[in-house]
Amino acid sequence: MTPTEQELFRVLVGFASLRPVNSLKWPAYSSIQNIHHFLLHSVLLNPHFSSYPPSTEYQRNFWKWAIENLETAQRELRPEAGQCLSVSSSKVLRTVLGAASNFRTVGAFQHASVDLLDIHPGLPFGHQPPSDSYVTHYWQSIPREVLGLPSSNVFDLSQYTTATLLESRRTVESGTTGLRTWRASFVLAHYLAENPDLIKNRRVLELGSGIGFLGIVVASLQLQHTKSSSRNDVGGLYLTDVNEEVLSRCKNNLILPCNFSSTHPNIHVQELDWFASLHCNQSVALASHLEHELRPDIILGADILLPKVFDPSLIPALVGVLKIALGKENTGGNGQRCAFIALTLRNQVTVEAFLTHVQDANLGITEVSSGVEYPLMSRAFPDEDVVNLFKITTKQ
Ligand SMILES: C[S@@+](CC[C@H](N)C(=O)[O-])C[C@H]1O[C@@H](n2cnc3c(N)ncnc32)[C@H](O)[C@@H]1O
Repeated sequence: MTPTEQELFRVLVGFASLRPVNSLKWPAYSSIQNIHHFLLHSVLLNPHFSSYPPSTEYQRNFWKWAIENLETAQRELRPEAGQCLSVSSSKVLRTVLGAASNFRTVGAFQHASVDLLDIHPGLPFGHQPPSDSYVTHYWQSIPREVLGLPSSNVFDLSQYTTATLLESRRTVESGTTGLRTWRASFVLAHYLAENPDLIKNRRVLELGSGIGFLGIVVASLQLQHTKSSSRNDVGGLYLTDVNEEVLSRCKNNLILPCNFSSTHPNIHVQELDWFASLHCNQSVALASHLEHELRPDIILGADILLPKVFDPSLIPALVGVLKIALGKENTGGNGQRCAFIALTLRNQVTVEAFLTHVQDANLGITEVSSGVEYPLMSRAFPDEDVVNLFKITTKQ
């Protein structure tokens, strides 16, 4: 891995995951020619982004940022170098912009139709709410260090798996927080990528799955860790949520052809409302469904205490489902049924109330790790947000 490759890869990861442009680092070690080549071939002409483009607003901001930085880099270089650049700034810009406008006519970027040629500093962006966007996250299923291999060319994209989702760019949309991916999902995904035995060939239930990021990662891991000859034993994945629109978006994301999950033979997306655990008849039906149909070996949940409006009975409802889903048995060892719940520590009172309810329900809870961040998995949230990961089991 050279610093040049690493810094370009970080720009690519940032573009793919819509990192705010003011948090992107302009490549300092690369020549203008290299940056130009990278922007043209790895970003603008990248077929993945033609099929799954970031939102129009984001692309406008990104290209404005890129062009302004190219201009600055050239202005700063000319007097110091005292030589002519082999590729002049205007030529670089013409090439990039020309390629973009050609794209429009040949149909790529048809979803975004970015009018790049109209970009100029001071244009008022962002007057409308941000539109839905494809977001692509790059991640490594088995980090090279874990395999004992030297870290190598970080810019070799074949070393990365991607998870692509159509998601909202708003915190709350259509009355739900479930239409975008939340930070705790990245932490839990990281943990599972490092501990694939937890989900390999096992039946996985996710509570409050949202639009499916964790589901796509788990499905990819299950497939990657199963020999193609034994695909039938790949395990099962049950993604559940309460919101119809969220469930529908989740289904659509899972079957995007660019995601491994589209080839998983045993994924189910279905409604499961935790409040059923608080009502007598419904909780009997829920217990039967969990025990006889889903039969989960492992239960997952990420940032599931962040509804649009917090209802204090949400915690007992969630703990009620966990209690039922974990069942009475605790076989111990690797076959132990357990839950992993990742929560962003935004509200200490809520997290403490959750811990108290779990203990009152006579469940065991341990903190597995805190503040984990998968280095190259995109970070859509401020770095200060700490995520706590809890393992919950029935008591022996
Ligand atoms: C903040 S989002 C987290 C989504 C996803 N786990 C993530 O990390 O990106 C919370 C999710 O919990 C779901 N949820 C809220 N109340 C629920 C309930 N009573 N039963 C099931 N799911 C619920 C919401 O619909 C939403 O998808």
